[in-house]
Amino acid sequence: MANKYTVRIQGKNSDITVAEDQSILDAALRANEWLPHSCTQGTCGTCKLKVQCGEVRHNESPEYTLTTDERAEGLALGCMATPCSDLTVEPIGGAGDDGVPHFPLRDYEGTVTVLEDIAANTRRLVVEVDTPMLFNAGQYVELIVPGHNVGRQYSLANPPTETRNLEFHVKLTTGGLATDGWIFGPMQVGDRISLRGPLGQFNLVKQQDEAAILIGGGTGLAPLKSIVQHALAERLVPELYLYHGGRRQEDLYDVDFFRDLAQEHEHFHYRPALSEEQWDGAMGMVTDVVLDDFSSCKGMSAYLCGPPAMVEAAVKALKRRRMAPRLIFREEFTIAA
Ligand code: FAD
Ligand code: FES
Repeated sequence: MANKYTVRIQGKNSDITVAEDQSILDAALRANEWLPHSCTQGTCGTCKLKVQCGEVRHNESPEYTLTTDERAEGLALGCMATPCSDLTVEPIGGAGDDGVPHFPLRDYEGTVTVLEDIAANTRRLVVEVDTPMLFNAGQYVELIVPGHNVGRQYSLANPPTETRNLEFHVKLTTGGLATDGWIFGPMQVGDRISLRGPLGQFNLVKQQDEAAILIGGGTGLAPLKSIVQHALAERLVPELYLYHGGRRQEDLYDVDFFRDLAQEHEHFHYRPALSEEQWDGAMGMVTDVVLDDFSSCKGMSAYLCGPPAMVEAAVKALKRRRMAPRLIFREEFTIAA
């Protein structure tokens, strides 16, 4: 039996119990005590805590996320650090309510019901979970890789009203444990799998007065598909622009799905863009297409998702068009530490 410790989080009303092999973030989210976090794998730094009292084991994370000096100052990553004693911790970004309703983290079991190739080296995976999962549009789950007891993050592409059939878009990483070694390997329809979720704070759930621009690169489309369906159903934004970037036509997917949505909803605009192949749609890097389409993005918000380089380029482009940095939300598909 793992030892358990009591952890007091400054700014929260009640203490939580954390096992010696459990991260502080995992225990807090299971206790429905919201803490800021993004990647849950030690690569973003969003979950940084100050350990005011007690000892933690830091476990592995890159030096750029938590430097040696920061460790010496008593900082730790909530998603990686496990307790060695009772603790008092203070979230660096504050533990306050972000105004969004959150759902507790839980473990789930489910059955693979769909596994299909939808674009070059890209698969759609649908898992029917045994018990419904409540989540916010834009969040993700961790799929547990069988035989390894490690999780990999995949964004939910289904709208939050669909709580049983969870849809994922997965890009092949050559040599990757979860993709090459499992989802593009032995995984079959009918397989039983384990997952935990929901996770992450990338979402569009509140009513907005101004337009929102969504930009996805590759499978970065997944959380945006959930957000688009939710935003249209709830009439959250006056104008909604979805950009999907790929190199060639074989990289795009769900084109008809989004074209049909654009036909149905006057205020929804879908702009797929290709950087390496001539076609009758938008041409160029997706961020350059956005720059061409808007002379000013003042007052608008943006939701960016995909490889870190694409997300960085999009942030720069939007700032050039005078979008306020606080209105730019991002989810980066970083690889595990
Ligand atoms: P890994 O085994 O993790 O390997 C990744 C790459 O790193 C490989 O090229 C491997 O050779 C290399 N590598 C591994 N270890 C080392 C090392 N020690 N040193 C150097 N190189 C190394 N992806 C999607 O396709 N769809 C999604 O919806 C999605 N959502 C995500 C959401 C979040 C919040 C995050 C953080 C990531 C998301 N990802 C998503 C990425 C996904 O979680 C995985 O990182 C990706 O699928 C690769 O996993 P893997 O196990 O196949 O590869
Ligand atoms: Fe902990 Fe990203 S959530 S480093």
